[in-house]
Amino acid sequence: MAFEMVGVVGLGTMGAGIAEVFARAGLRVIGVEADAEALARGRGHLERSTARAVDKGRLSGERREEILGRVTLTTSRADLREADLVVEAIPEVLDYKRSLFADLDGICKPAAVLATNTSSLPVTTLAAATGRPGRVVGMHFFNPAPVMRLVEVVGTVVTEPGVLAGVSELAGRLGKSVVTVKDRAGFVVNRLLLPYLNHAAGLLEQGVATRDDIDAAMRLGAGLPMGPFELLDLIGLDTAYEIMGALFDETRDRRHAPSPLLRELVAAGLLGRKSGRGFHGDTATPHRLEKSGAQTVKVIGEGAEAMARRFADAGFKAADDADVVLRLGERPVVEHAARLARPGTLVGVHLVGERVAEVALTVLTSHEAAVAARDLMKVIGLTPVPCKDRAGFVVDALLHPYLNDAVRMHESGYASISDIDAAMKLGCGYPAGPFETLEEIGLPAVRDGLRALYAEFREPAYAPAPLLDQLVTAGAATFDRA
Ligand SMILES: NC(=O)c1ccc[n+]([C@@H]2O[C@H](COP(=O)([O-])OP(=O)(O)OC[C@H]3O[C@@H](n4cnc5c(N)ncnc54)[C@H](O)[C@@H]3O)[C@@H](O)[C@H]2O)c1
Repeated sequence: MAFEMVGVVGLGTMGAGIAEVFARAGLRVIGVEADAEALARGRGHLERSTARAVDKGRLSGERREEILGRVTLTTSRADLREADLVVEAIPEVLDYKRSLFADLDGICKPAAVLATNTSSLPVTTLAAATGRPGRVVGMHFFNPAPVMRLVEVVGTVVTEPGVLAGVSELAGRLGKSVVTVKDRAGFVVNRLLLPYLNHAAGLLEQGVATRDDIDAAMRLGAGLPMGPFELLDLIGLDTAYEIMGALFDETRDRRHAPSPLLRELVAAGLLGRKSGRGFHGDTATPHRLEKSGAQTVKVIGEGAEAMARRFADAGFKAADDADVVLRLGERPVVEHAARLARPGTLVGVHLVGERVAEVALTVLTSHEAAVAARDLMKVIGLTPVPCKDRAGFVVDALLHPYLNDAVRMHESGYASISDIDAAMKLGCGYPAGPFETLEEIGLPAVRDGLRALYAEFREPAYAPAPLLDQLVTAGAATFDRA
């Protein structure tokens, strides 16, 4: 399958980047926009993006001229009649895309392949809008397209043999890594990422922890490049809301119902970075932090001695009736508190990695003890994440279901372990794929974490995936990638 000339329809955030990627790989590109004004904006995107690359020394001025010289911009779809492939990147509205595909089908030569960059709409429905359903595929790039190395290539039940291979080979020529998948809402990356982000919005809404504490927990505790609210603001809350809606429509999994908080922010026009404010970006002044007056601290539970030593080194005294009692280890924290003479002094502490301490506050915890526990964690160099006494606290509550979803996705036959790991690393910039993370944490710890979440929330999707459960039972420490 020879692709020499490609069309890109819609030169917004994604389309302009996709056009650039094709032109960089030496293909001739016809970029189509809706009207002259949008076309000028599209041209601006292309010119600025390539100029930035020159400024950073990643591209010579001469190469830039060559790249721009390969792109023809037009407002006429009829100019696509010679294209071998057309990639559509217009807004995520099924009716717009369906009518565009019907139109392209009438314009493009019969052998041309039509591709959609949709994040969440069914590729099959778009294929059915044409007289060539076998030559319609998904080609899902990530933002920014010139930088992100992943392309999800999506085939439907009617895709002709050879078309998927041809498009995947082309994506390889563009310097991208390809994951080939079937037509399921969200494909690999959004199917795993968005429910995690939606879950984070749910924890915020339930008051389990604050926005900044959840972001810090996931960045510093789970080692992710961004916290969930930082990432939601980057993706755009409207986009996230749309994708969640599409996931829910397909799965009817209540965890995929878009968080009401997301809906409210979108309705208020707070869309994230693109509108200047989303979860972040408010102008409210931060609360002035109180300082605790705690003088004495007692540490109990697993690993208490080592932590008590750190407090002693910092000049705090140990006492039996201390101002604050820190309980390391098992949950529920409140059961330990209820046994004390002064239950308000007890706070649960759960260390996550080297830098984060989740500080679990129960219904009995006094305000003074809560403030003291937070300060004490800072004294010994940890980032405190105050949260409610709930299964998984913050990090495990968000991380374990995501890992479980990845195992279930593999078990369902949708994608291989190595494809899922590669997709999450290249599509989200995660330092490790979910299976690598599972193996690093330890399969039994994740299985047990999921059991605890399931026991507390009775959420069917939190029940450990059978494969994970069986591997733990069999004593395996790793997944079989063969
Ligand atoms: N933004 C992302 O992070 C991202 C990532 C992956 C995939 N996507 C998908 O890519 C697609 C485009 O998203 P975007 O963020 O680039 O949107 P965008 O709003 O930035 O760009 C859409 C562009 O399409 C143009 N357009 C609208 N109707 C048109 C028509 N009939 N003919 C030609 N051009 C038309 C608009 O003028 C606009 O420039 C969507 O399907 C989205 O789901 C987006």
